[in-house]
Amino acid sequence: MKFIPPFGLGTFRLKDQVAVDSVRTGLELGYRHIDTAQIYGNEAEVGQAIADSGVARDELFVTTKVWTENLGSGRVLPSLRESLQRLGLERVDLTLIHWPSPNDEIPVAQYLGELLEAKRQGLTAAIGVSNFTIAHLREAIEAVGVDEIATNQVEIHPLLQNRKLVTFARQQGIHLTAYMPLAYGKVLAEPEIQRIAAAHGASPAQVALAWSLQQGYTVIPSSTKRENLAANLAAAELRLSTEDMAAIEALDRGERVANPGFAPRWD
Ligand SMILES: NC(=O)c1ccc[n+]([C@@H]2O[C@H](COP(=O)([O-])OP(=O)(O)OC[C@H]3O[C@@H](n4cnc5c(N)ncnc54)[C@H](OP(=O)(O)O)[C@@H]3O)[C@@H](O)[C@H]2O)c1
Repeated sequence: MKFIPPFGLGTFRLKDQVAVDSVRTGLELGYRHIDTAQIYGNEAEVGQAIADSGVARDELFVTTKVWTENLGSGRVLPSLRESLQRLGLERVDLTLIHWPSPNDEIPVAQYLGELLEAKRQGLTAAIGVSNFTIAHLREAIEAVGVDEIATNQVEIHPLLQNRKLVTFARQQGIHLTAYMPLAYGKVLAEPEIQRIAAAHGASPAQVALAWSLQQGYTVIPSSTKRENLAANLAAAELRLSTEDMAAIEALDRGERVANPGFAPRWD
C-alpha cells in the first residue's frame, strides 16, 4: 500500500481563480498533498497551480476521484485519462471511487476491477475508495484484496466520529482519510473544542485537526484564506492530552454534513 501523507489540501467548492489561488498558496506554505475530484470541476485549476508552483512532481501527492457517472463498464479508464489531461499529469498518486454506485446499480467488483487495471497501466500509483460503508468495504476486499485499498475517504470530525466504520477499517488494516475534518466550520463553534483550544493557545480548527491526526487519519481541510491554510498546517505540531481526546470523543452526535440523496445506507 502506498503511503498517504497525513496532511492534505481539500479543494471541494473551489472554482476558477479561487481554486488556483488556494492551491498555489497551499503549495507555497508547504502543503504537498492535494485532494481534487472529477466532479469538483477544478482539476485544470489544480493542475495550473501545480505547474506554476515549480514544486517537483515527486514531492507531490495528488488525489483525484472518479465520479459516479463514470463507473459504468469501460468508463473508468477513459475518465481517468481525461482527469490526467486536465491536471497536466502523467499519473496521479491516488485515485478513489468517489461514491459507491447509486443504489449499487453497478457492482463494486466491476468498477474497482477497472480502477485496478488503471493502476496496472500506470495512470495512478494507488487506488482507493470513498464513502464506502462496511458492506461496500467487504465487497471491495473480496474484489481486489485489502492490500490494494490505500484508503477509505469518509466524513469524520468530532461531531461525526463514525466509530463502527473506524473499528472495522482498523480491524482490516484499511487507512482512513477524514474529509470535512472541520464539518465545514461547524466544529469551530463547539464550546468544548473552544475550551481545549484556549488551554493550548491554539485555534478550534487546530484542535479538530489534531484530534483526527492523533488517531492516524489523514486530514484534508480546505480554505480560501492564507492565514487559515497556514494555521491548519501547524495543527500537526499540536499534541492533545488523553483527557482532551476523551473530552472530544464525548462530542460525537452522528451529525453528518455530506448526505446526498444517492448516499449509501450508512453504518
Ligand atoms: N470524498 C468526498 O465525498 C468528500 C466530501 C466532502 C469533502 N471532501 C474533501 O474534503 C475536503 C474538506 O472538506 P470541506 O472543504 O467540505 O470542509 P472543511 O475542510 O471541513 O471546512 C472548510 C470550511 O472551513 C473554513 N475554515 C478552514 N480553515 C479554517 C480555520 N483555520 N479557521 C476558520 N475557518 C476555517 C473554510 O473557510 P475559509 O475558506 O474562509 O477558510 C471553509 O468554509 C474538501 O475540500 C474535499 O477535498 C470529500
